[in-house]
Amino acid sequence: MPPTKTGISIPETGKTHEEILAQLAQMRHSDVKWKDGRVWSLVYYVDEEHLALMNQAFKMYFSENMLNPYAWDSLRHMEKEIKLMAGDLLNGDNETVGVITSGGTESIFQAVYTYREWARKHKPQARQPEIVVPISIHPAFEKAAHILGLKIKQLPTGDDLRAQPELIRKNITSNTILLAASAPSYPNGVLDPIEEIAEIATEHGLPFHVDACVGGYMLPWVERLGNSIPPWDFRVKGVTSISADLHKFGYAAKGCSTLLYRSMDYMKYQFFIATDFPGGIYASATFQGSRSGGPIAAAWAALNALGKDGYLRIAKEIMEGTNRLKEEIGAIPELKILGEPIMNIISYTTQSSRPDIFVIADYMEEKGWMVDRQQFPNSIHLTVMRHHIQAIDTYMQDLRDAIQYAKDHPKATAKGNAALYGLMARIPFRGMVKTNVRKLFEEMYSNPAGNYKSSDEEEGEVNSANPADNSPAWAGPLNRILIGLGRLFGRK
Ligand SMILES: Cc1ncc(COP(=O)(O)O)c(C=O)c1O
Repeated sequence: MPPTKTGISIPETGKTHEEILAQLAQMRHSDVKWKDGRVWSLVYYVDEEHLALMNQAFKMYFSENMLNPYAWDSLRHMEKEIKLMAGDLLNGDNETVGVITSGGTESIFQAVYTYREWARKHKPQARQPEIVVPISIHPAFEKAAHILGLKIKQLPTGDDLRAQPELIRKNITSNTILLAASAPSYPNGVLDPIEEIAEIATEHGLPFHVDACVGGYMLPWVERLGNSIPPWDFRVKGVTSISADLHKFGYAAKGCSTLLYRSMDYMKYQFFIATDFPGGIYASATFQGSRSGGPIAAAWAALNALGKDGYLRIAKEIMEGTNRLKEEIGAIPELKILGEPIMNIISYTTQSSRPDIFVIADYMEEKGWMVDRQQFPNSIHLTVMRHHIQAIDTYMQDLRDAIQYAKDHPKATAKGNAALYGLMARIPFRGMVKTNVRKLFEEMYSNPAGNYKSSDEEEGEVNSANPADNSPAWAGPLNRILIGLGRLFGRK
């Protein structure tokens, strides 16, 4: 191969399709075996039949582009049906409107953008517009605020890990333009007090977004199974919009979420229209420009193929598995489940932080489980899906062994990923965490043929949406001292 500046170039001659497919299969070989239930997040799987349907539907519309919504009647029709079905599921009415986006992050970004535009007209006194959220809300809000130049107030949750309505009330100022909360939160699967927050939003004439990215297509079925779920959707008067991901518990292909508004009164601020482009008038409803028809066709296929009875049946199986896991984890004296999970998301940690949960996480990883480590408090996250049910017994056996190992080795310290997350969790000044993670990303994305060296300087974050992130220069040395002291006194 001739030398190149980047280290690799497009092959001079193309390979055969067989070769390519064999190579892909080979590369995939070393990936984690998610179908065996080894990954407790990321993939939302029903079964092989459903997966085949998703593949086919996606493939049929692989090339079609929803950039121009007038180009394909079929896709426009599907999109409309999906939004109406979603509105019905979330107890909307004939005023409910919405868009399909590429995922939860885009839905959240669009909602924040829409309310920023709305506030420019309806809250001109908000000179430094800010959004008020619980700390447990998905980071997509912080990201959106960062990109859109808004401030974000991330408020502590209560002992139950839920948003605290009174704290939210106290933090509303003339700059507040939006409240948001989760149904449920990703880390612990707890439902924020949506009705109480909605009341506060109404009192202050503020929009209120409910992030149901993970719960939107699951909670309705959990409720229909007879579980008591406080209202969180459009039944709650002050809720002005909801994000709900079809590529999660809608079991659609990746790249599909719904963002619904109570009415066009809000959504009309979302449309972006450029009139001076020589290529013609350019109008778009979402962040994306070109938009594959694949995710829309697959989502339409998923909703119609599974039907209400299919979703309910799957939810029943999953909730039975979740309850079994909850019981078995709850029965282990060293462990405790965090908060009161409302659906199939569980997080657990050790009682009084002994033994170290990240040593347990390391052991589990050695056994082939992909472990989602969390912080505040240090814990392990499980989103329970259908394909995990077969793996529960093995998981629990490995977990019991892991606890025994951690008890037998009280001096063991967390390694691997745990070292990163564990260390990060112990750093009091968050600006430094960002510096370290940024370095990891710089390394991951740098050109392997180049000479880029990430800087060892500890810098505070610039242009952060969160003023607390801008750590002063003395934070670095002080962090090191605090971490050292923490270790000395056995602080987690
Ligand atoms: C509650 C919640 N909101 C938002 C998101 C972001 O969704 P996505 O990863 O599709 O952008 C997630 C993802 O897990 C989530 O759980």
